[in-house]
Amino acid sequence: MDSIVVTGGNTLNGTIPISGAKNATLPLMIASMLTEEPLVLENVPELADVNSLSRILANHGVDYRVEGKKRESNGLAGRTIHFFADEIVDTTAPYELVSKMRASFWVIGPLLARMGKARVSLPGGCAIGTRPVDLFIESLRAMGAEIDVEAGYVTANAPGGLKGAQYRFPKVSVGATHVAMMAATLAKGTTVLENAAREPEVTDLAQCLVGMGARISGAGTSTISIEGVDSLHGYRHAVLPDRIETGTFAMAVAMTGGDVLLKGAQAGLLENALDVLVQTGVTIEQKNEGIRVARNGAGIRAVDVTTDPFPGFPTDLQAQFMALMTKADGVSNIRETIFENRFMHVQELARLGADIKVDGNNARVTGVRKLTGAPVMATDLRASVSLVIAGLAAEGDTTVNRVYHLDRGFERLEEKLSACGASIKRISA
Ligand code: UD1
Repeated sequence: MDSIVVTGGNTLNGTIPISGAKNATLPLMIASMLTEEPLVLENVPELADVNSLSRILANHGVDYRVEGKKRESNGLAGRTIHFFADEIVDTTAPYELVSKMRASFWVIGPLLARMGKARVSLPGGCAIGTRPVDLFIESLRAMGAEIDVEAGYVTANAPGGLKGAQYRFPKVSVGATHVAMMAATLAKGTTVLENAAREPEVTDLAQCLVGMGARISGAGTSTISIEGVDSLHGYRHAVLPDRIETGTFAMAVAMTGGDVLLKGAQAGLLENALDVLVQTGVTIEQKNEGIRVARNGAGIRAVDVTTDPFPGFPTDLQAQFMALMTKADGVSNIRETIFENRFMHVQELARLGADIKVDGNNARVTGVRKLTGAPVMATDLRASVSLVIAGLAAEGDTTVNRVYHLDRGFERLEEKLSACGASIKRISA
């Protein structure tokens, strides 16, 4: 298995291109199942999760073709992929596929809406918490689906089609909002989703669906209205920039010091996280080409954060922020409210010399003067990249094992960082 070796101590200076958002790309790909016509997605990041989901969709009958497979000479441009679901050949998503990737459970929405039935495996355990699917099931039931959960599978039927409904999510869920919104596009009548997720990826999906002929209003607010239509058509849509990748690199610069332009990044997508970074002492500037992040030699100020649904501080940046706080002047309290078990990086950061005490969903991080490189391993995507960030500021070599987690969600991470002066390389096993 590949590993990544980071030798700490260099500042970051230069330009880092920001890729298309993984968390928008996945639901957009799944939305291709809602129409018989081609859905063309531009600015698709080259990630293991995108490849896995393409294969999963192919199992349902979705053909896909990558335009101009060669990387641009500068390696910066996202890919364009055509998805073509003229015929759905299988409405079952088996355990072998869904257990590999939780987001593939989301096919339940389009399958039910277009085919009137779906049989989808429960996603199973996940490193960052229990992550149930009750909200998906309840929102689809509200639209008239008959749903049974048996033998590890969710079986859903709507023989006469889904019906518009009013549904209030008892808890904010990004995935359940994506799925209910997709399902409602082809329902009879109007669906109103209350307490919906407001994440920019939900808005991006809504914009694409509207381009495909859906009637949606309110995406980006907590009440989304969807007036069902008989069918959707093909469309060409560019995926929005990845705000989590943006925040991750911004934290890397905050950690090492330096001056980097995050090309293509949009500050509006992560206001809260950028505000927090400014409080730590970083300079952030929105420019035409992207966001400039800089920190001079001054120390890092400790700041408390609590993760929250958008527009709050994203749980997907919690681990990276914790890495930054390990070297802050003072104490930072980091509270995780989205996933109950998202502190696995704590033990690994401690291997580098970090001082962190976990009490329930609160981590108390006391900044230390120095981190020292060590072999580390992480069990999820964002935790892995937090170890890379810590490694950039540690003395000596940090070897991050199980790199496949990083490849799931960060496009050419080591290439992007080394272009800005980091000493980072991949060792192929
Ligand atoms: C998405 C993102 C993930 C991010 C998360 C929160 C993708 C592929 N993943 O995940 O990167 O960390 O949003 O911003 O876009 N819940 C239930 N019942 C349900 C569904 C969810 O109780 O039926 C709970 C979850 O356990 C969790 C919370 O709701 O505590 C939020 O989960 P959700 O927003 O659904 O996360 P995902 O869509 O899985």
